[in-house]
Amino acid sequence: ASVEGVRHFLDLTDFTGAQLREVLEIGKALKARRVRGGAQKYRPLDGKVLAMIFDKPSTRTRVSFDVGIRELGGEPIMLTGAEMQLGRGESIPDTARVLSRFVDAIMIRILDHTAMRELAEYASVPVINGLTKQSHPCQIMADLLTFEEHCGPITGRTVAWTGDANNVLTSWIHAAVKFGFNISIATPAALAPRADIIEWAKAGGANVLLTRDPFEAVHGADAIITDCWVSMGDDDERYRQNLLRPYQVNQKLMSAANKGAVFMHCLPAHRGEEVTDEVMDGPQSVVFDEAENRLHAQKGVLAWCLGVGLADVTATAD
Ligand code: CP
Ligand code: NVA
Repeated sequence: ASVEGVRHFLDLTDFTGAQLREVLEIGKALKARRVRGGAQKYRPLDGKVLAMIFDKPSTRTRVSFDVGIRELGGEPIMLTGAEMQLGRGESIPDTARVLSRFVDAIMIRILDHTAMRELAEYASVPVINGLTKQSHPCQIMADLLTFEEHCGPITGRTVAWTGDANNVLTSWIHAAVKFGFNISIATPAALAPRADIIEWAKAGGANVLLTRDPFEAVHGADAIITDCWVSMGDDDERYRQNLLRPYQVNQKLMSAANKGAVFMHCLPAHRGEEVTDEVMDGPQSVVFDEAENRLHAQKGVLAWCLGVGLADVTATAD
């Protein structure tokens, strides 16, 4: 059993909606301070060290956590699985025990979800999931921040996903339950979400629509979301591309959503595959705000994991 009282950030399913709302609001408040120019003076994580383990490539997650911990007053240590003894067979529990003696928090990107959770089980400092094959919760915190900035509160609204049912979609489904919004999902039958995830969401009261037809999914939606057709760790590239071609987000599909709907993508995008240039660069696209918001959302997660509450962030003057 994991060390009691340690605030990990592993999956949205581990939290109540109210807890996640607080983490999100901390991120928003930190962003507001930064916009006002107060970020330099407010350093609640002064002297804290974050170990970042990347077993897979990253641009946004790496840079946002690196800049984020520095802006909060702490420092990052960048590690890759291959350079660590982890790559030579040191166990996850021992790695967790050792790192916990040196650092204040650990962020890990690793495809093996069980390994990520095992790290948290044996760590006595907070562990943050920076993407596994199964989920990408930090991404969805940034996505929720972005949606609410552009469209207002997400509760009761509808988002549509078209394409592959991957880790990013899973965290969106988790969020639908925790934040109380509707999610419509269009995928090919062979690349549909796992039945147990959908059952969990429905049991949690979420309104989930599953379809093969992207036009049905985007009808009435306030956001159209997609992601790459081939995720890290996927093979059968050609097979996926052929199956997913009808799920491309293009102007015709955008026009079938609500007026004012936003286009979202966690990036990196494969222009011409899952999304056209016209949509990526068009007026409804919020993808670069979404990328920036990784920074603000990650700062919210870091602050929360290390014991900083919303009241702390909003109570202190700039
Ligand atoms: N969206 C996202 O996680 O991007 P990176 O792979 O660049 O971190
Ligand atoms: N679904 C993608 C997200 C990359 C940020 C992947 O897992 O590769």
